Amino acid sequence: MRIILVGFGVVGQSFLHLLNLRCNELTSIHGLRPRIVAIVDKKGAAINERGLDMEKMLRIKKEMGSVSKDLDKGFPNLSGGEVIKETEAEIVIEVTPTDIISGEPGLTHIETSIKSGKHVITTNKGPLALALPALMDLADYNGVYLRFSGTVGGGTPILDLGRKCLIGDRIISIRGILNGTTNYILTEMGEKKIEFDEALRMAQELGYAEKDPSLDIDGFDTACKLVIMANWIMGKKVTLKDVKINGIRYVILKELMDADKNGCTIKLIGSIDKDLEVKPKEVSKRDALCVHGTLNAVTFVSEFAGEETVIGRGAGGMETASAILRDLIDIKTSLSARLMA
Ligand SMILES: NC(=O)c1ccc[n+]([C@@H]2O[C@H](COP(=O)([O-])OP(=O)(O)OC[C@H]3O[C@@H](n4cnc5c(N)ncnc54)[C@H](OP(=O)(O)O)[C@@H]3O)[C@@H](O)[C@H]2O)c1
Repeated sequence: MRIILVGFGVVGQSFLHLLNLRCNELTSIHGLRPRIVAIVDKKGAAINERGLDMEKMLRIKKEMGSVSKDLDKGFPNLSGGEVIKETEAEIVIEVTPTDIISGEPGLTHIETSIKSGKHVITTNKGPLALALPALMDLADYNGVYLRFSGTVGGGTPILDLGRKCLIGDRIISIRGILNGTTNYILTEMGEKKIEFDEALRMAQELGYAEKDPSLDIDGFDTACKLVIMANWIMGKKVTLKDVKINGIRYVILKELMDADKNGCTIKLIGSIDKDLEVKPKEVSKRDALCVHGTLNAVTFVSEFAGEETVIGRGAGGMETASAILRDLIDIKTSLSARLMA
């Protein structure tokens, strides 16, 4: 399987580390021989149709800042779009930064890949939150797979649990804590009895929150994940504009203290029922959903199986890379089944 990797930051590099670690098992257990034929970052690309030396690419990125600096295989200033169009490959892995206003550059990368007949795996929530129904249709029309299990819950298989494992049931609603940064801030406010600003500062010092934390604290990251779950698990055709969004910026310590008197706390809850909504809500401390720190948790409410909650770490380079590998194996299995049919 020839792979083009677009984006070579935390997730992209973790994915190469994971491939190196699991190379033998992938071949012996799954019959998968992945070959990275191109890597693209902001400054250009490295291309070798016979397969790039992964350890060398990681070293060049670390020491020289861009894979395009490789003397043999480097192509400075070549863009993701050009590489996707001009390089022969079966799969594109799109792991560039999330932009929820334009969806770019990921949106163009994904569309170009699908239109050129390449399957896509992405962990980039921006393009999906803005255009998932259209992208799923485009992939169907072009006969390729679009997979994105790392966008919700990182390594925790939330999307697969909802779509595959509960396939015999009917999911009525979903509610979850889908953002580790906000959960850390609310947990610290409640446990250390501090106000929002101080908890945010601590999260920033520890690297849990960005310098501009708006995507997380204003609820947009959670909303993107709701859109992805609603489309993929519940078959709703929705985008980010269909979500009612309230973040945690205005939650005060007194509200947490009041909730505490009733055995509850406040969590940023994303819910899919009749509507899609992100809102700080009181949750009983005995509810399975009430996880601490940076953990994520999702409760599926289904007609026959009742309530099931999955808890996991949510994000992280290697965790998210493991979701990409899961998608890769899933595509390989689906392609083998197609051939047998
Ligand atoms: N990190 C996590 O735990 C995690 C978890 C789940 C989902 N995600 C999502 O996964 C994606 C990647 O995350 P990350 O943490 O790996 O981000 P990152 O460390 O910022 O890496 C982004 C990479 O994309 C490259 N890039 C930026 N613009 C580009 C362009 N126009 N063309 C080609 N490459 C471009 C960057 O190039 P340079 O290296 O040259 O700057 C960098 O290599 C994001 O959408 C993120 O939201 C991340």
